[in-house]
Amino acid sequence: MEINVKTNMKKIGFILVAVLMAGFASASSIESEIAERISKVGEVCVEGGDCATAAAPSAMASAEGGASGESVYTKTCATCHAIGVAGAPKLGDMPAWEPRTAKGIDVLYDSAINGLAPGMPAKGMCFTCSDDDLKAAVDYMVDSLK
Ligand code: HEC
Repeated sequence: MEINVKTNMKKIGFILVAVLMAGFASASSIESEIAERISKVGEVCVEGGDCATAAAPSAMASAEGGASGESVYTKTCATCHAIGVAGAPKLGDMPAWEPRTAKGIDVLYDSAINGLAPGMPAKGMCFTCSDDDLKAAVDYMVDSLK
């Protein structure tokens, strides 16, 4: 009987340690995520040159919990959309985008999130992107046509 109680206590102790460790692990990954977000804002600021104007929209984007459309585009989408790999519509290429924007922005969001066969991969290969990040990147590409 006493042995049983002891082993049970051991088990409970082990579970507690496991739960605590899981807690620490997720806390530290949140920390590194925050560090990454902060560094993204820093990057945008450097790239933009004029920090006073560049910092404002990126600070807003991170307050909403997402990356800016431009940074998502630059990091992943540009791989194909800058030079038109596999027939990808190029950034700012009005004739290539016109039949696509004609479908409506929601269709374009859907293509970004779920992909469009054969060339456009789901999430545009930005696997850490949220749907909102992807929509922001689509908005950035569509806005670049104006
Ligand atoms: C591996 C290359 C590749 C990457 C990376 C990529 N795309 Fe694409 N994308 C394509 C190709 C190719 C098409 C054209 C697909 C077609 O019409 O057959 C396309 C089309 C699109 C379209 C038009 C869809 C439509 O319905 O007409 C949108 C919007 C789009 N991409 C958004 C994005 C976004 C946002 C990212 C980054 C998060 C991204 N893409 C990354 C290759 C890529």
